[in-house]
Amino acid sequence: MNVTNLASIASALVAAAALVTAAPPHAFADVESILQSQCASCHALQAPANNIAKNERLSRMAPPLHFAGNKYNRDWLVSWLSNPSPIHPAGYYPQRHIINTGDGDTLDTDVRFAHPTLSTEEADAVATALMLLKSKSALIEADTYQSGTVAMRMGVMDFRRFKGCDACHQDSTTSGGLSGPLLYNAAQRLQAAYLSSFILNPVAWDPNTVMPVLEMNEPAVHKLVHYLLMLEE
Ligand code: HEC
Ligand code: HEC
Repeated sequence: MNVTNLASIASALVAAAALVTAAPPHAFADVESILQSQCASCHALQAPANNIAKNERLSRMAPPLHFAGNKYNRDWLVSWLSNPSPIHPAGYYPQRHIINTGDGDTLDTDVRFAHPTLSTEEADAVATALMLLKSKSALIEADTYQSGTVAMRMGVMDFRRFKGCDACHQDSTTSGGLSGPLLYNAAQRLQAAYLSSFILNPVAWDPNTVMPVLEMNEPAVHKLVHYLLMLEE
């Protein structure tokens, strides 16, 4: 091996080392710029001020993400961001996909669901960044849910008949209302403590939520959470 070869190998090594050390800050800057340039126009990435206007909800484009780390399961987030599908069957409120007919409301199936799609690599990096957004950790810490089970038949009756949740939510692909987010994949999508805390006090999570406060005690809420977590997609 001659001297020129050695020198070129050495300089290649120096260049490679520079690339390796440069990679992490570069990758982080990329995630931040994806969030700011591709997501922040529709999603709130920071908690709103306490005195947020009531009618803010009407102009809101998408669900808030400033408590993403308190809400989603990371694996679901990665796969959804790289292959998104509708979660609110009628669109995010206000319900742009509803047509009023004489016989009640139907879905406007001409409205195509289109959400930005990330590569698997970007989705993984963005999910990591989103999981750090935890504006509501105090609510999670205060939650008392512990895993458990209910008889499936009782769970179905409770969700649909006694509590009326199915007026707005689907607990199976073929049953339930269309105005709220679908819940038959709650076990994959959402953290248990989020489910429990949100059902107990939706307004604490989002002052302008359209989910009604249903005045239930904690044991009643926990039974509903057991049921939702037992559902198979
Ligand atoms: C043009 C507006 C728009 C942009 C830009 C956008 N989103 Fe969304 N996003 C939406 C809407 C609308 C929904 C609700 C869809 C549904 O529920 O069917 C949504 C849903 C989501 C959800 C699921 C929310 C939930 O719990 O229901 C996540 C997570 C998400 N977006 C992340 C992102 C990320 C990350 C980016 C940037 C890469 C992004 N979005 C860019 C409009 C947008
Ligand atoms: C009048 C319609 C309505 C009823 C009835 C209703 N919800 Fe909701 N719910 C919503 C909407 C809409 C949201 C989404 C939050 C928002 O858009 O403000 C929601 C959100 C949720 C969420 C959080 C899901 C997410 O993606 O963030 C859970 C869990 C939930 N509801 C469970 C229930 C349960 C359990 C019941 C019955 C006790 C119930 N809901 C009754 C409309 C309803």
